[in-house]
Amino acid sequence: MGRKFIVGGNWKMNGDKKQVADIIETLKKGPLDPNVEVVIGVPAIYLEYVKNIAPANIEVSAQNCWKVAKGAFTGEISPAMIKDIGCNWVILGHSERRTIFKEQDELVAEKVAHALDSGLKVIACIGETLEEREAGKTEEVVFRQTKALIPAVGDRWANVVLAYEPVWAIGTGKTASPQQAQDVHASLRKWLSSNAPAGVADSVRIQYGGSVTAANAKELAACPDIDGFLVGGASLKPEFVDIVNATQ
Ligand code: 13P
Repeated sequence: MGRKFIVGGNWKMNGDKKQVADIIETLKKGPLDPNVEVVIGVPAIYLEYVKNIAPANIEVSAQNCWKVAKGAFTGEISPAMIKDIGCNWVILGHSERRTIFKEQDELVAEKVAHALDSGLKVIACIGETLEEREAGKTEEVVFRQTKALIPAVGDRWANVVLAYEPVWAIGTGKTASPQQAQDVHASLRKWLSSNAPAGVADSVRIQYGGSVTAANAKELAACPDIDGFLVGGASLKPEFVDIVNATQ
């Protein structure tokens, strides 16, 4: 046990230079619980700017990257580039990447493997659609998505955080109930106990994502298998501070 609470902010394709600077000012004022790890996922074009103005207690993450270090991949960025500007994290496999950009489990796994090879830490996202949940396939989907990561991660789970984000809860205002989220987190941990290297099931941090707000964060944070959040919309607002501090 002893999993450190970790709250990620995923800004997605939002913000401009002014707004980005305002958010950093708000986070600097905080105060942010020093026992919580905070990682903000920034649009690639603002990564270096944010890295330069963010205080040391906030990690800056890319929201995606490609699966090799360099080459003819127009429009992509590599983990080597993310590292080069001083950032240590990347979010991979977000449901928007999977659905809008058609990223399959195999590609997500290749990206995760290369990001870890390059020394980045990874927030790896998984989660079922509404259709899959209603068909009773939540566990099947979440286990399948995680299974693809097993060989990619190998023994490097200390550098991976899983983010369970039910697609039906993302940006919809429809949060999974604490019980719904806890149930999936607990069954994922159980699955990991027989499918991942020894100890991983207990040590890996599993974030919940999907319409997390200051109003629902405390109740979700109290669930034993929820080790943090990946926050979209609310990470652009001052209430992100309260979400970071939800375990206080
Ligand atoms: P919302 O918090 O806006 O629902 O987004 C969740 C998310 O996708 C974080 O990665």
